[in-house]
Amino acid sequence: MNRITAAITAVGGYVPDYVLTNQMLENMVDTNDEWITTRTGIKERRILKEEGEGTSYLAIQAAKNLLAKSKTNPKDIDLVIMSTATPDMPVSFTGAYVATKIGAVNAFSFDLTAACSSFLFGMSTAAKYIESGRYKKVLLIGADKMSSIIDYEDRATCIIFGDGGGAVLFEPNTEGYGLQDEILRTDGEGRPHLKIEAGGSILPASKETVEKKQHYVFQDGRTVFKFAVSKMADVSEELLNKNTIKEIDWLVPHQANKRIIDATANRLNLPEKKVMINIHKYGNTTSATLPLCLVDYEKQLKKGDKLVFSSFGGGFSWGAIYLTWAYDSK
Ligand code: UT7
Repeated sequence: MNRITAAITAVGGYVPDYVLTNQMLENMVDTNDEWITTRTGIKERRILKEEGEGTSYLAIQAAKNLLAKSKTNPKDIDLVIMSTATPDMPVSFTGAYVATKIGAVNAFSFDLTAACSSFLFGMSTAAKYIESGRYKKVLLIGADKMSSIIDYEDRATCIIFGDGGGAVLFEPNTEGYGLQDEILRTDGEGRPHLKIEAGGSILPASKETVEKKQHYVFQDGRTVFKFAVSKMADVSEELLNKNTIKEIDWLVPHQANKRIIDATANRLNLPEKKVMINIHKYGNTTSATLPLCLVDYEKQLKKGDKLVFSSFGGGFSWGAIYLTWAYDSK
């Protein structure tokens, strides 16, 4: 019997309608379009404005888009993995709610959190369930309502992040397509450089933490940038060498900063036309960047294409995954 590999068989995505442009940010903080564009590559991002809605809303829309496009019966899904850094609420995890709301009534679910690497690590996890032979349909969703944890008076962070959701379906493949190899890493020394100080078990919410704005994302951008540039490129190159791959068809990089993406592509000697980029439209949507790239480029993907996914994020967390594409777009 052929070895079972875990292939992506469908993708779906969702971004909110509300567009927050660089020009609008110019009226909110001391910044300008030229600075944001040259330093990050971002022109606009989407913000979820629906009253009372959280990350689950983005996830549900993305999953429903996938189910409709692929004509998948949600009752056939075995597992829903919800990758997110902004769950709806603590304790009652987001995945359970999302799975129920999309009709995946025969699935179990859990949240997976690894900051901007949540989706990449989720791909690795989803693939293991498929490769075991025990699960046939694993829905991996990456979604984040970053606007819920951003201080729109802090120009160092508010220009970067946006809201969005994306989903992929993993299924068994016996032709050898799908996830081939991975290198995943973490380093807890990165904790001080990218974090939310309060609201967790070390510093629970109080009047003081709210007054001190400790529930917003803090980022030491320069340090994170330095690590991201070297680690994303290192690990992607290492993965290609390990698999003796001369040339790939697509780099699918985490969309944190166009300059980080360019550095990774340069190290792999890839021309820009082989690099998936949508940071100019959506900014950094954290767990949604990778699947939203797949949604935007799905029509250009061909069966057998070699893809390398790569990310870097808080924790620190980073890695690269090598996957071959399993279908031609209809
Ligand atoms: O996805 C999770 C992982 N996150 C990342 O990978 C993000 C990594 N970091 C970055 O992308 C970049 O560090 C930023 C985009 C956050 C910042 O770009 P930078 O080129 O590293 O700028 P910087 O922080 O070194 O700041 C340069 C200057 C500073 O002014 P001085 O000190 O040189 O006078 C900042 O105060 O730019 C100033 N600055 C701004 N100016 C206009 C910082 N933010 C802004 C702004 N508009 N929004």
